[in-house]
Amino acid sequence: MSASATIQKRAEWLREQIRYHNYRYHVLDDPELPDIEYDRLVRELESLERDNPDIVTADSPTQRVGANPVKAFGTIAHKLPMLSLENAFSEDELRDFNRRVIDRLQTDPDSAIAYAAEPKLDGVAVSLLYEEGRLVRGATRGDGERGEDITHNVRTIEAVPLSLLGRGFPGTLEVRGEVFMPRAGFREFNENARIKGEKTFVNPRNAAAGSLRQLDPRLTAERPLDIYLYAVGQVDGGKLPQRHSQVLDRLQDWGLKVCPERRVVEGVDGCLQFYREMGAKRDLLAYDIDGVVYKVDRLDYQAQLGFVSRAPRWAIAHKFPAQEELTIVRDIEFQVGRTGAVTPVARLEPVFVGGVTVSNATLHNMHELHRKDVRIGDTVIVRRAGDVIPEVVAVLLDRRVKGARVVKVPKKCPICSSAVLSIEGEAVARCTGGLFCPAQRAEALRHFASRRAMDIDGLGSKLIEQLVAVDRVRTPADLYHLTVDELMTLERMGQKSAEKLLASIERSKQTTLSRFLYALGIREVGEATASALAGHFGNLSELMSASEESLQAVSDVGPVVASRVYAFFSEKHNRDVIQSLIKAGVIWAERASKAAVADGPLTGKVFVLTGTLPGMTRDEAKDRIQAAGGKVSGSVSAKTDFVVFGDKAGSKLTKAQKLGVRTIDQQELEKLLADQ
Ligand code: IVH
Repeated sequence: MSASATIQKRAEWLREQIRYHNYRYHVLDDPELPDIEYDRLVRELESLERDNPDIVTADSPTQRVGANPVKAFGTIAHKLPMLSLENAFSEDELRDFNRRVIDRLQTDPDSAIAYAAEPKLDGVAVSLLYEEGRLVRGATRGDGERGEDITHNVRTIEAVPLSLLGRGFPGTLEVRGEVFMPRAGFREFNENARIKGEKTFVNPRNAAAGSLRQLDPRLTAERPLDIYLYAVGQVDGGKLPQRHSQVLDRLQDWGLKVCPERRVVEGVDGCLQFYREMGAKRDLLAYDIDGVVYKVDRLDYQAQLGFVSRAPRWAIAHKFPAQEELTIVRDIEFQVGRTGAVTPVARLEPVFVGGVTVSNATLHNMHELHRKDVRIGDTVIVRRAGDVIPEVVAVLLDRRVKGARVVKVPKKCPICSSAVLSIEGEAVARCTGGLFCPAQRAEALRHFASRRAMDIDGLGSKLIEQLVAVDRVRTPADLYHLTVDELMTLERMGQKSAEKLLASIERSKQTTLSRFLYALGIREVGEATASALAGHFGNLSELMSASEESLQAVSDVGPVVASRVYAFFSEKHNRDVIQSLIKAGVIWAERASKAAVADGPLTGKVFVLTGTLPGMTRDEAKDRIQAAGGKVSGSVSAKTDFVVFGDKAGSKLTKAQKLGVRTIDQQELEKLLADQ
């Protein structure tokens, strides 16, 4: 055998292997090879074809994506028209259909018709034409008579075989099915498009349609498209089995992908059973379906029944309640969640969607509201899938009325009137009411009592919910006025546990400033920040009166945290709660603040720290210098008295030397501190 014949053979063998493994992976969903082995086969074929361009064939698995965009879509005529389906929206309509089938066929009304039941896929109908087993054409349904030539795009869908497997297929075989974008791929695609500022799609069906209508197949190839075939069209030069269900089995043997959720059922009862099962499964499937289809399974019966206008008499689509509907936004209001998130909610003209009447839909957050540009008066698509909260998916801009009103984030919380804080670049606006806002009460109390905050043992979420529900506890301060008798009126609360709880409430009064600050539940103030604030200010009153600027001087406190802390203490009701807590006996050891150390040994001296000190953290050094009356600054200037340098000291040390500022190491610092 010549060298070129050997190469040719090897290439052919590789193609067959790749086709087979493609089939296992895409059609049967049951891969045999690890991905890495499969990739090796593809790479070997690619390299053979690169070195020997004359051996490349059009149906080689390497040739899915054409290099050049097409100028426009050509039109093709369907040899057999692509039909649509009659719809049934109720059990009665299904029974009528079944009755008509029995009447026409004149079969025994007591023996059930066998129906092939399948999901009704929510994608784009396409036709694929195979000549001698090779894919020669892909087309859209168009008006049923004529569609668009999308061969270059369907070739890029990996689940579409470029050549059929096995043998026995008709010389001409046209198959029909639905191209769709699985939900996960759709979400990922939109997410990426959003990040890149590109066009997003409203739902997976639009995404599939848009992807198939690309003139450049390289773009289609990047979209996560998939296909299920559910019918045959033109067939010449070969025979197919006698039943629809068997035809689909045969298609699968030839490498064509069919939906696994299909089965033959008996009569209306079997159909209804299938309908209910698929309805329950609907949200768990990887792709969207909008109903199920029943087809008379026997092809001779199908032939007898024939067609009426554009739809077969032997099939019907039994639709699920629609998950998307159009309606009008009457108003946009704001709700406050447990964590203070202020969420825009659309009040809608009531509409029946996803099986229920919907009159409210979430708009998620301000960022989403602006991105979708939803205005009062707009016509919108609402979606309710499964038990998920209904949402506004998109606005129909061409239906926007004059005077459609834009809404802004409210300045005040609709529940408690505290200021609402929106931070530049953050999607979520929040109520600053914290402890005071009824919407946030239970959550605030749970946090207050938690182990790392006030550590009130035995005060769990259930109890808190009860105390809030009976309006006995509004703020954390109310916890300190509970009595045994009151507690005993609550569910599952005996005298013993009531006394135990009161004891731990009592114990919690002895705390630290850091825990107390953390317990207040100021946004962005976690344990570490609380401790930094406590360390820096030393006492509460000074912290409460600190400006945003001076808050930022605390290590690790940036502008966002500073504004949260400042906003929190600016609210009178938050200050009131703090006063009540102190009055109720909550107490911690206060430290003299730095300002109060007017006569320490380091009073008036300005320090700058640089590098890593061997025996103390930067915060410790800072605290001790401040406790001795010194000041710690971030940058070296002529006003600096000492630069304390440690390991890997940087430019601050050089600058100090340049300015003639005294530089000291940790040992010398310890000495200065010890002098006090
Ligand atoms: S059979 C002659 N089976 O529904 C019957 N159609 O409303 C031709 N569809 O254009 C269609 N899933 O896009 C059939 N399992 C299924 C289907 C299905 C979705 C679509 C198809 C068709 C439309 C008809």
